[in-house]
Amino acid sequence: MPEASRLACSGRLKGQVALVTGASSGIGRAIALAMADEGASVVVNYIGNREPAQEVVAEIQGKKMSALAIEADVSDQHRVRGMFDQAIREFGTIDILVSNAGIEADRPYSEMTLADWQKVLDVNLTGGFLCSQEAVREFRRRGIVAGRSLTAGKIIFISSVHQEIPWARHTNYSASKGGLKLLMESLAQEVAAYRIRVNGIAPGAIRTNINKKVWDTPEGLQSMLRLIPWGRIGEPVDVAAAAVWLASDESDYVHGTTLFVDGGMTLYPGFAAGG
Ligand code: BGC
Repeated sequence: MPEASRLACSGRLKGQVALVTGASSGIGRAIALAMADEGASVVVNYIGNREPAQEVVAEIQGKKMSALAIEADVSDQHRVRGMFDQAIREFGTIDILVSNAGIEADRPYSEMTLADWQKVLDVNLTGGFLCSQEAVREFRRRGIVAGRSLTAGKIIFISSVHQEIPWARHTNYSASKGGLKLLMESLAQEVAAYRIRVNGIAPGAIRTNINKKVWDTPEGLQSMLRLIPWGRIGEPVDVAAAAVWLASDESDYVHGTTLFVDGGMTLYPGFAAGG
């Protein structure tokens, strides 16, 4: 099935501006495209190679929507501020933040260096803090615009099933995602009064580069599928559909929650045949 054909595309984000971090590939790319399909202008954040980000921009512009690629390391406060300033100069404001940029640096615990620990926490958790803080400031400054959205802004953190499921040899990653869960919930509690809606999405095994080393071999794919009751690996569009819904007013009463998009990975599939 072509990637986007499962999405409804009914202008649910018309006239809004979405900033998606880590949007040059994988889940972030699918979210950027899906938000444009729903009528949003999109800021495509990336780090490193500009070409894939420019391709996402070109694809969005091909849909007759606006997009802009901005490079920024989400763990660098100065760069994050610069990115928000540039985006707001270009598009006037930001209505939706999808804090998606994330990395893995997997290592057995006794071999994990402080640098492995730090860089994963910096990008996955501190990056979420820095970007959402800038978003909250902009949402509070602007407030609700009648006719555009019921809220002053929406924040969606892309977390992981590993905010719940412990993951050996990925302690830095699961710690970052567990942290992100409580960051999301605490922030949701704090900013509801400003009509800022905050939620998380916890993807399971989604076919992207981050886990290619696993799904790219028949044995790896088999081992992955044993953990997924729904019987298939997820596609980026599965997560994009959830993100569009959480960004739209359809989900107006959904606040401070995590939507698991994991084919049932969190259902303890090991117990399916009895305990
Ligand atoms: C990780 C993937 C992994 C998936 C399920 C994600 O958060 O980034 O590498 O396949 O969780 O374990």
